[in-house]
Amino acid sequence: KRVCLAYSGGLDTSVILAYLIEQKFDVVAFLADVGQDEGWDAVKAKALKIGAERMIIQDLQEELVEELVWPAVQCNAVYEDAYLLGTSLARPVIARAMMKVAKQYNCEFLSHGSKCDLSWRGKLSIQRRRRSSRGAYPSSANDSRSGRQALLDYAEQKGVPVTSTKAKPYSMDANIIHCSYEAGTLEQTELEPPADMWTKTVDPLKAPDEPTRFTVHFEKGIPIKLEVGGKTITGSLEIFKAANEIGRVNGVGRVDIVESRFIGLKSRGCYDTPGLTILRTAHRDLEGLVMDSKVRGIRDQMVTFNWTACLYNGMYFSPEREFLHNSIVFSQRHVEGKVNMVAYKGSAFVIGRSSETSNLYSETESSMDTLEGFSPMDTSGFIAIQAIRLEKYGARKIKDGEP
Ligand code: ARG
Repeated sequence: KRVCLAYSGGLDTSVILAYLIEQKFDVVAFLADVGQDEGWDAVKAKALKIGAERMIIQDLQEELVEELVWPAVQCNAVYEDAYLLGTSLARPVIARAMMKVAKQYNCEFLSHGSKCDLSWRGKLSIQRRRRSSRGAYPSSANDSRSGRQALLDYAEQKGVPVTSTKAKPYSMDANIIHCSYEAGTLEQTELEPPADMWTKTVDPLKAPDEPTRFTVHFEKGIPIKLEVGGKTITGSLEIFKAANEIGRVNGVGRVDIVESRFIGLKSRGCYDTPGLTILRTAHRDLEGLVMDSKVRGIRDQMVTFNWTACLYNGMYFSPEREFLHNSIVFSQRHVEGKVNMVAYKGSAFVIGRSSETSNLYSETESSMDTLEGFSPMDTSGFIAIQAIRLEKYGARKIKDGEP
């Protein structure tokens, strides 16, 4: 029996690995490098030492940025007005790569240590964990409250090296897009997150007094160039990393929210998402200059909300997400131009934008100082027509004695 295990090198998946081996599985350990920045050699050595048949590590960062993050930028994706989907965007890329590896090495089973993403410490997650690893989990770890101690005991008994015994009092999930912090002490929604929790941004209150000025260039709604401090950066990964760095030093992109999970529970989440916060702000601004107003309105109401929901709810590989993706691409055909921005003490704001290709904005047409373009007389008929419906509505209200 061969199983492919999503392995991170941490306590949970190391215990799962030892347990699977105890249950006489051959284990192919798989790790997706989505920019979480860890010592891969040590993780690989650990997996092999515990007894994995092999350990596969794949760098998926570029795929993540180009296939998932750019569409998120293109539709200004945001969940419940705050969460930029940092973890949700990485999941499809990780899952797809893992399936390929499982197939390649003839794995009959899949196993993973997911415990919190849909229902932290909920019964559901335990059930899901059991089912997906076909019962391959120490039963002593099923008691969620004493989970960690049980895991530590089992690790000791199996000679599994435990790297950091002092666990953080919350759960973290990092990738190139963000780091998320959930559960544990954060479950008390009124408590301020500890100052040393944030890993991707400096404290906005302690950010430099000097602002960072920069320019983001877009083509078809995708960032293609970033200029900062006299340097010009191209290439998806490089641009994204440069945006991350601007955001990091200036403390841009921290959010602390209570969000609604797919299964109906509320959950507190903290996220620091420096680069994506900046690029989304730049993109949204450029759309104001170059995007057709009706397309934009329909996109905002129908496409962004639903695309975001697909990602958050784990419905990336669905016909509706593909359908939405195609309309995102269409909506972005003319989103070309550049946006000048400033990052300063926790915020990133726009100070100007331009486009050489768009014909929607015209200084002369829009100017309040000239009468060029159309005659004021043209507007009289327009206003009269608009008023037909409104006059009837007003008359009815008067008749009914409504205020
Ligand atoms: N709530 C977010 C989501 O479902 C982030 C989950 C991250 N997990 C964590 N253990 N911090 O996409």
